[in-house]
Amino acid sequence: MQDERRLAPRSASPQYVVEAIRRAVTLQPNSVFYDLGCGADARIVIAMAQAVASDAQQQLQQQQPSRPSNDHHSVQLQAAGTAAAVSGPEAGAPHLHPLQETAAAAAADNRLAAAAAAAAAAAAPSAEATHGLPQFVGVELDAAAAAQACAAVAALPAEVAACISIVEGDLLQVPLRDATVVYAYLLPQGLSLLASKLSAEAPHGCTLLSYMFIVPGWEQHLQATLPVTSGLPGRPDVSGVSKLYMYRQN
Ligand SMILES: C[S@@+](CC[C@H](N)C(=O)[O-])C[C@H]1O[C@@H](n2cnc3c(N)ncnc32)[C@H](O)[C@@H]1O
Repeated sequence: MQDERRLAPRSASPQYVVEAIRRAVTLQPNSVFYDLGCGADARIVIAMAQAVASDAQQQLQQQQPSRPSNDHHSVQLQAAGTAAAVSGPEAGAPHLHPLQETAAAAAADNRLAAAAAAAAAAAAPSAEATHGLPQFVGVELDAAAAAQACAAVAALPAEVAACISIVEGDLLQVPLRDATVVYAYLLPQGLSLLASKLSAEAPHGCTLLSYMFIVPGWEQHLQATLPVTSGLPGRPDVSGVSKLYMYRQN
């Protein structure tokens, strides 16, 4: 049966979109980046988190040139779980990252997917623990895809996994009051609903990046239309059709 909440079919963004996103936005330590409809591999939030963590690690190493190169733990960026912040953690809850605890099992058992997503949503970001890395949140409607995304995150190095949350649910029901950047690869009708939601609750300056489709009715917020292409030799230049539309709420 057709799920009326579904705002786009499953179709992954090409990996090279990440480069275009990185050129378009600058994330600060307190930024929260959402991919609304993150898919089964959560590729956008994972690639963004990997890139930002790698930059941060390089910066740390440049600031500490005299440290021995095998002092691995001294340069690792430790962080704790975060969330689309549906609710805070239960009192007395363990401080372990919920995705690491549950995601591997969830991948094998769809019934655990809801538990994994609930655990991810229940964890609150901790300023001390996140050590200045932005937060990345993937929201996915499809339970099996959300479970796979959790497993993909859990397989990452802990310092990268710690700044990513996967939330299973309808993107139109997830609070976006803390959103700094929202990435969406949705059909125009879904974008229209998302735009209304962002207008109602997202903070000033929130950036919406829409891959492939313009956001109906948001012409006044359009900042740039960015061509997206792999740029690799031998690959067709798809920048004429493959675009990233950047909007900002003033
Ligand atoms: C075109 S795919 C994009 C996947 C990913 N963002 C990417 O760029 O690779 C759209 C995704 O949105 C999900 N989706 C559709 N409607 C949704 C909704 N209401 N809430 C959350 N996810 C939704 C689909 O299941 C699908 O995984």
